[in-house]
Amino acid sequence: MKVLVVGGGGREHALCWAISASALCDKLYCAPGNAGIAAVAECVPVAAEDIDGQVKLAKEKDIDFVVVGPEVPLVLGLVDKLEAAGIPAFGPSAAAAALEGSKGFTKDMCAKYDIPTAAYGRFTAVAPALEFLQQQKLPIVVKADGLAAGKGVVIAESMDQAEAAVREMLSGSFGEAGASLVIEEFLNGEEASFFALVDGKTALPLASAQDHKRVGDGDTGLNTGGMGAYSPAPVVTEAMAARVMREIIEPTVAAMTDMGRPFKGVLFAGLMIDNGVPKLLEYNTRFGDPECQVLMTRLKSDLLPALMAARDGTLSHVDLRWRDETALTVVMAAKGYPGAYDKGSEIRGLDAANAMPDAHVFHAGTASKDGKILATGGRVLAVTAAGATAAEAQTKAYAAVDKIDWPGGFCRRDIGWRAIKR
Ligand code: AMP
Ligand code: GLY
Repeated sequence: MKVLVVGGGGREHALCWAISASALCDKLYCAPGNAGIAAVAECVPVAAEDIDGQVKLAKEKDIDFVVVGPEVPLVLGLVDKLEAAGIPAFGPSAAAAALEGSKGFTKDMCAKYDIPTAAYGRFTAVAPALEFLQQQKLPIVVKADGLAAGKGVVIAESMDQAEAAVREMLSGSFGEAGASLVIEEFLNGEEASFFALVDGKTALPLASAQDHKRVGDGDTGLNTGGMGAYSPAPVVTEAMAARVMREIIEPTVAAMTDMGRPFKGVLFAGLMIDNGVPKLLEYNTRFGDPECQVLMTRLKSDLLPALMAARDGTLSHVDLRWRDETALTVVMAAKGYPGAYDKGSEIRGLDAANAMPDAHVFHAGTASKDGKILATGGRVLAVTAAGATAAEAQTKAYAAVDKIDWPGGFCRRDIGWRAIKR
């Protein structure tokens, strides 16, 4: 078969790496891809958000199956358009991607179908939002409704801060994403990510992971797209995974069908677990980045037939095998990220890093020029390794990181600390 992966980040490199190893895949394309993906797929310069361009590409190349990586094309309806053109695609319809595209939609669904989550209110005007705030305890969480690339959440420690966040979001600084907002109760506990494949009716649990959202060691500094991750997350025991499936994932799948928006694709639940009780913080409707890199490192089974079964509605026949080891990935980012950063600095030592035991470097923002690998994004590499324990995976991942010669980059040095502390 001919397969097209849409996107060009570390997540898509991991997906391409897994799909290129599938016995079913004869030819793999990735659009737009990056310098690392070019080693396993033919990259075509069409942007992930260019919906018409992606459909045109899939038709031109006579693609049999499309896998959509990022959220923006999902919310814009890429899967709907591909399916309408007769091209099978993995990922939710635009209607089902509302689980990620509108936090208010998800909160209302949780309320209606009794899915555990933080108490909340939904607002489109400043005055009622401020009035609601007066009755809340601190800290309090203010969220822009729509996609905001991880920047639409403010955890306010004071009422002044909460009010400022409400005014700013509703003033239009987040564009349409902030035209509506959610104010919700602050939840204590330990965060974890949980992934399941869904085919419209059946949900197949994948694995758990933990991300590191802050830019600095010790979870300090600004929020980012994710500076590193590992899988499994020790807080998600087998019993906890079963509970999350029963109380959160399965009721969501049933609710979406009930609302006429059957969900197909990958459900990525952001959870807060407190005293053994899981609550939903948010849904994403795609693989996480960098969580995908650690999931693919642990997956033993062929990914492609599982993704096809999710699209076809035949997941109940699928059984996936995982390595027991911990996989851990360290994101290397351009200095300055998540603020302003330079592009175009050269990265050396990638072959040496890839040659380290059980290590693999996934590329996120890279391009090759005149035989050199250059950094082209904020998050640039995801250096990944597997080990018998989180500590071993961490040692191996940093041994590979230390082979990389990139003066323009930096990384956190403590990825995995929570699992290792246990
Ligand atoms: P979200 O994009 O909704 O996952 O929010 C981004 C981050 O903000 C989460 O990963 C949490 O660390 C934090 N967060 C969001 N909602 C809450 C909440 N209700 N209570 C505590 N922390 C939260
Ligand atoms: N790493 C978090 C995300 O992909 O949203």
